[in-house]
Amino acid sequence: MKIIDWFLDRFRLKNFHRGIFERDIPEGINYFYCLGGIAFSAFIFCFISGLFLSFHYIPSETEAYRSILRIHEEVSLGKVMRGIHKWSANVLIISIVLHSIRVFVTKSYRPPRELNWIVGLMIFILVMLEGFTGYLLPWDQKAYWATVVGTNIAGSIPLIGEAILLIIRGGYDVTGITLMRFYSFHVIWLPLMIILLLWAHFHIIKKLGISKPL
Ligand code: HEM
Repeated sequence: MKIIDWFLDRFRLKNFHRGIFERDIPEGINYFYCLGGIAFSAFIFCFISGLFLSFHYIPSETEAYRSILRIHEEVSLGKVMRGIHKWSANVLIISIVLHSIRVFVTKSYRPPRELNWIVGLMIFILVMLEGFTGYLLPWDQKAYWATVVGTNIAGSIPLIGEAILLIIRGGYDVTGITLMRFYSFHVIWLPLMIILLLWAHFHIIKKLGISKPL
């Protein structure tokens, strides 16, 4: 479209845009090579719906549960945003698992792509932690006890377990401090780290290209 061309030209974005989106694709790839892209799309949906939820969610011991009820029942499109957040998180996890299986089956983890496999594993762990920290936020019985059990598992690691437990719970028990801490991990620390690692993931893919099918 003319207007888009004009806009890209005036912003001098044409080549920048080409640099990001245009690349050589090896022959013989199939739909399984779309799983990384599906994971990325799910991540974007999750991120944007999360931004909207953060307008209304209150990470406090007394208000968290009520704020979730408010989002669900009073906020316009609140139920839809919660639904998009939940479903895109599920699609993200499923597509990451399938994407990793594709990379494993096509042996794309072999040099020179071994570093990207390691970056991918780190993203995998951080995305699981996103799920775990997000689970506590509704602050209902299910969330509370799942966090007690999950953090107890971390606490049972020999030698360092207690220190880890204290860091993630912010004390010996799961309290409002744990909720604040999980909220901070969920909306700031983990997304920041995931975005940095995704940048590295895409940078390596761009430099090395996608592996040829076996
Ligand atoms: C949010 C998570 C992730 C996103 C958005 C993502 C995205 C992508 C995309 C778009 C590609 C290009 C080819 C394709 O789509 O199959 C790719 C390739 C690759 N990914 Fe991921 N990925 C993620 C997680 C992972 C994980 C968990 C691993 C492994 C443990 C991994 C390892 C790799 C490797 C080694 C390649 C290069 C494959 C090749 O050249 O054929 N990625 N990723």
